[in-house]
Amino acid sequence: MRIGVLTGGGDCPGLNAVLRAVVVTAERTGDEVLGFRDGWRGPLKGMSRTLTARDVVDLLPRGGTILGSSRTNPYASGEGGSEAVRATMGAQGIDALIVIGGEDTLGAARRLADEGVAVVGVPKTIDNDLAATDYTFGFDTAVHIATEAIDRLRTTAESHRRALVVEVMGRHAGWIALHAGMAGGANAIVVPERPTSVARINGWVSSCFRNEYAPVIVVSEGAVIEGMQVLAETGTDAFGHRRLGGVGTWLAEEIERATGAESRAVVLGHVQRGGVPTAYDRVLATRFGIAAVAALHEGASGSMVALRGTDIVRVPLAEATSELKTVPDARLDEAEIFFG
Ligand code: F6P
Repeated sequence: MRIGVLTGGGDCPGLNAVLRAVVVTAERTGDEVLGFRDGWRGPLKGMSRTLTARDVVDLLPRGGTILGSSRTNPYASGEGGSEAVRATMGAQGIDALIVIGGEDTLGAARRLADEGVAVVGVPKTIDNDLAATDYTFGFDTAVHIATEAIDRLRTTAESHRRALVVEVMGRHAGWIALHAGMAGGANAIVVPERPTSVARINGWVSSCFRNEYAPVIVVSEGAVIEGMQVLAETGTDAFGHRRLGGVGTWLAEEIERATGAESRAVVLGHVQRGGVPTAYDRVLATRFGIAAVAALHEGASGSMVALRGTDIVRVPLAEATSELKTVPDARLDEAEIFFG
């Protein structure tokens, strides 16, 4: 079989580990692998390179993706949709695709599968908001980076008796904020799933200062706080998502204004997506890569490999992309026990 593979959407630690696993597994089963450049742009424009075991030998710990990534939407007007993808696959003798991506990249994979293209998905996102899998690779790494940042920010916050607001990624779901916040002992965690008010946050902040410690507040970039104006409009991507950012800085100013406590905001941004994956993400990414090749061999087109408990299973791409996995109330209630 000739397998085409691509990495789409925001990059994520562990993408290269999946590529390594796909190529090594495919060589053992007598298959060839062609890597497409820059997400869906590769199949649309025919940009590809052959991948052999030699190309992936040192990829396991390397962050990013050697194939490049983009947020190209094959179904956006003028991109050519499944016809353009099929034309490239035909010209390059590709039998099937392994698509590594999040909700948008896999949403396009699902449409292609519905239109008869052989495709298997691999779930990727630091946000961990893909339904039908317990975890996506990249999330654990992002949480580790954010937790380390919280630990560091806490000591400087204590020294200066300041409130420190840490803005983490998480467009629609607060998984990174929840896990890093719990691991770092955050005094408040603000996520998109549970809109709150500055007054409530300030209640926790004041309680910390009364007890003579400095509060650390973790906020998801997509969090909703009453009274917050729509923040700087910085455009949308090819899938129509607004670029976010600014809630942390806004919140720090509001805390300072209302409580009089000196406040600072730190935006972790793309630091959370860079660098080496954790051991957990390397193993998960590797298992996903092996399972994706097996799924193609067994004709499971239209499926996505997923983690359920400790098992790698197959789920329909439709199930994985129909709705986002958000943080349940009970998880937020647990975290809230430690606020203030
Ligand atoms: O989807 C993953 C993600 O990291 C989001 O958390 C974040 O909002 C977005 O990507 C940032 O995208 P970009 O890299 O295009 O700025």
